[in-house]
Amino acid sequence: MRAGRPGRRRVVAGILATGVAACSRVSRSEPAANVAPLRSVVAFPVGCAVTTAHLADPTYAALLNAQFSQVTPEWEMKMEYILQADGSLRFEAPDAIAAYARAQGLSLFGHNLVWYSQRPVAFARLDGQPDAFAKAYDGYIAAVAGRYRGRAVGWDVVNEPIAEDGGGLRDSLWSRNLGEIDYMRRAFDQAHAAAPDAVLFVNDYNLESLPRKRSAFLRLAETLLKSGAPLGGLGAQCHLTADLEPGSLSRMMRELAALGLPIHVSELDISLNRAKAGFASRADLIERQSRLAAEVGEAFARLPAAQRFAFTVWGLRDKESWLRSAAENPDPPWDAPLLFDDAGRPKPVLGALERGFASA
Ligand code: G3I
Repeated sequence: MRAGRPGRRRVVAGILATGVAACSRVSRSEPAANVAPLRSVVAFPVGCAVTTAHLADPTYAALLNAQFSQVTPEWEMKMEYILQADGSLRFEAPDAIAAYARAQGLSLFGHNLVWYSQRPVAFARLDGQPDAFAKAYDGYIAAVAGRYRGRAVGWDVVNEPIAEDGGGLRDSLWSRNLGEIDYMRRAFDQAHAAAPDAVLFVNDYNLESLPRKRSAFLRLAETLLKSGAPLGGLGAQCHLTADLEPGSLSRMMRELAALGLPIHVSELDISLNRAKAGFASRADLIERQSRLAAEVGEAFARLPAAQRFAFTVWGLRDKESWLRSAAENPDPPWDAPLLFDDAGRPKPVLGALERGFASA
């Protein structure tokens, strides 16, 4: 959180106390000239990752409302926010985001129920006690997915289950206590029982750049489907780097689409800074960023309508990107991975994405 921002509780309380009424006073800001609002140029949901801190900024909210039709909580619907050390659950922030979405007529996408990288104390203390662990696991998923029943149109039920080298499934607190497939099967079953209308996804990254990982992801999806798991869609995060080989995204989309399930481009950003050092000039990387946006936009828009679940970017303005956190980007040049610059102005990459959508 950047210095000088109101404390988290005040932010959430602010959104809650003024309720969504304050947010509903937020007008849909006029998008910059000659760039149509993203939500108006497509026939599928376009989403954005949000936080309560960002939603408390009326300028941010106005731009979000003008451009997007769906929101994904960037971190406040995960175990790290909801599950307390004593096993209790707190929902102020995700409830505020859900209320904002409802007030603004935006769809809500839940992210995420189970993730290898979340190892909350409340579960760590049950490690090696399979019965107690399973009971707590089932209870958590039922409580969280159930709370947003009828409000979350879908969930990332299992996030990033594939080993980075594509050699198999990640080892995790969940796989060690419940089994490497069974922890996923349980999660899908519990989520479906709690929220039967939500589309349930398995979600991963580098599916465009690591063919071996993509194959393992697709094998997992087939295994889950054959086991009877209520897997309803495939999430391709698409955290891209501007040096990605042209054509990679189209190949990925074709292979994922072949399974026949709805597809969610779930976390798009296109990093300039993470491109290989010396690969190209900044200006060339910016040009490549636009070409990649056009490629993924066209590949997604070419999917059959039934498979175009949603297209989500992982943040609104560059300065809100996780890639600009102090840990990721401590010094200039500042990364510029998103569709709008720090001031909220549309960038060339937005126009390129819209042209990609339109070219399908
Ligand atoms: O804002 C709070 C601050 O008030 C508090 O003092 C501080 C310490 O607890 O935490 C701050 O929240 C941080 C939050 O980002 C907002 O900056 C959380 O600690 C931090 O864990 C959280 O990181 C998020 C990360 O997932 C882990 O949840 C990133 O924002 C988010 O962009 C990132 O998103 C992931 C997707 O879920 C999965 N795919 C990869 C993607 C990028 O890593």
